[in-house]
Amino acid sequence: MTPVVFAFPGNEAMADALSARLSAERGACTVRRFPDDESYVRVETAVSGRDAILVCTLDRPDGRIAQLLLLASAARESGALRVGLVAPYLAYMRQDARFTPGECVSAKVFAQWIELHFDWLVTVDPHLHRFAHLAELYSIPARAAHSAPVIAAWLRENVPAPVLVGPDQESAQWVEEVASLAGVPSIVLAKRRRGDRDVEVSVPEPAKLAGRTPVLVDDIVSTARTMIAAVRHLREAGLAPPVCIAVHAVFAGDALHALHAAGAGRVVSCDTIPHPTNAIALEGVLCASVAGLLGNGASPAIDGKAAV
Ligand code: R5P
Repeated sequence: MTPVVFAFPGNEAMADALSARLSAERGACTVRRFPDDESYVRVETAVSGRDAILVCTLDRPDGRIAQLLLLASAARESGALRVGLVAPYLAYMRQDARFTPGECVSAKVFAQWIELHFDWLVTVDPHLHRFAHLAELYSIPARAAHSAPVIAAWLRENVPAPVLVGPDQESAQWVEEVASLAGVPSIVLAKRRRGDRDVEVSVPEPAKLAGRTPVLVDDIVSTARTMIAAVRHLREAGLAPPVCIAVHAVFAGDALHALHAAGAGRVVSCDTIPHPTNAIALEGVLCASVAGLLGNGASPAIDGKAAV
């Protein structure tokens, strides 16, 4: 039967794109808050015996997670065959260890909440660091679509003679893949974070950047302090304002303004989180991953690369 795609509020554009590409029905639902801040959800399109797909990106997750889990339950109680989650940005992936006694491993706890209510998950480039694969966190089929081919295509069309700069070791996985696909050089800096907004990165060797347009690539830009530290070094070395590319445009508070004030050039992002910087559309890679999961039914967790 035809799958039904529901948009969590704010995710309408991605839900429209996915339902068109998947030839699925675009479903209707209500998600709203009562005056006391509790939530009301209702699935309005018939889902009995069908795949229900909820599209909800998970930046600012604390204000969304209760409503999302209620909506998943509503779909299941309405008879959905399977309930899947398309979360272009997957939250809480950076607390992937107990850094200090008394903390919880939030990435694992968050995964437990999701897998209790969903049959499968598709996301884009989750922040996999101490966990190497989504399968180490999620017991449900979980697929990571990759932005690198789409970012590489954007670079080829928009930036002459780029050199990619990764601001920290964790960014190497994205930077090196994009650089290899685009056929351009790359360097990766070293980062030391002393606090939420206190970040230091190593100084790049100017010889490796000479005559090229520097392009910073990171998976998540939150406070932008990581990118700002790198931008400052590049500008101090006399380089052109670097192009800054974020896979996930979290941009907390004044982050975008501060990034420009530090000397960044064009700032662009993938559309995993709706944001004015969105310039790189990922519906193609997301759709390929969703189609793979719908076709494979209960396949094991996969972090495979989806076709563009
Ligand atoms: C962490 O390693 C991530 O890849 C990003 O570098 C980090 O999340 C950026 O955070 P912020 O923008 O707050 O410096």
